[in-house]
Amino acid sequence: MPARPQPVEGIPDRLYGRRRGHPLRPRQTRLMEDLLPRITLPDPADPLAAFPVAPAPLWLEVGFGGGEHALALARAEPATALIASEVFENGLCSLLTHLAPEGGEATAPLPPNLRLWPRDARHLLAAMPDGSLDRLFLMFPDPWPKSRHAKRRFVHPAILPLLHARLRPGAEWRIASDDPTYQAWVEEVMGDQPFFAPTARHDTHPEGWPSTRYEAKALREGRRPRWWVWTRR
Ligand SMILES: C[S@@+](CC[C@H](N)C(=O)[O-])C[C@H]1O[C@@H](n2cnc3c(N)ncnc32)[C@H](O)[C@@H]1O
Repeated sequence: MPARPQPVEGIPDRLYGRRRGHPLRPRQTRLMEDLLPRITLPDPADPLAAFPVAPAPLWLEVGFGGGEHALALARAEPATALIASEVFENGLCSLLTHLAPEGGEATAPLPPNLRLWPRDARHLLAAMPDGSLDRLFLMFPDPWPKSRHAKRRFVHPAILPLLHARLRPGAEWRIASDDPTYQAWVEEVMGDQPFFAPTARHDTHPEGWPSTRYEAKALREGRRPRWWVWTRR
């Protein structure tokens, strides 16, 4: 691994929330030990080098959860290189289980346009070259609704200069949230900054955005998600 990149200035360099759930079952252990290293992005400083499809547009999903959205994107956009990032082991296993049959963890062919970053996405962002990304997805991030936890939120004034640098001009940042506090926070943080222009806001599910597990849960429980598109200036 290359040297550990600098954290985002003004944001604590630590992750909050769960990284481990239940102990892994044997199949999950094989997915983590035999498949994950094969599909992990090796060098964040040269992300496209990991993809046989390069040169291609490069997209990044932060916190993919169970991986429904990332898998749907990778299948729908074979000419796009997608990096999907998640730190929660059970989430990583949920995505990986779709990529190899039982017993094929060490040998199943990898999707050519999907690579994983099984660590804090902020470290990947810190290490990648400027102007790398054509699209960024943040679907239903952990809301951290207490105001004393605001520094734990991925959307934060301190990360905007870094995201601005890593996205190409005109690149899209897609965000969704079902949490009223986070929704207001996104609009406050994104409302007064020079880095991203507001492009769209939807109060019903926009066409072409794969659904996620959290979205389904939010809708089942009567919450009202909101979806935004911001464009890198
Ligand atoms: C509320 S879940 C949403 C999951 C998924 N996007 C969905 O909509 O179903 C947020 C996820 O983001 C992950 N996460 C939080 N901070 C992260 C970070 N800095 N880098 C990568 N993943 C992160 C968490 O582990 C968690 O699985």
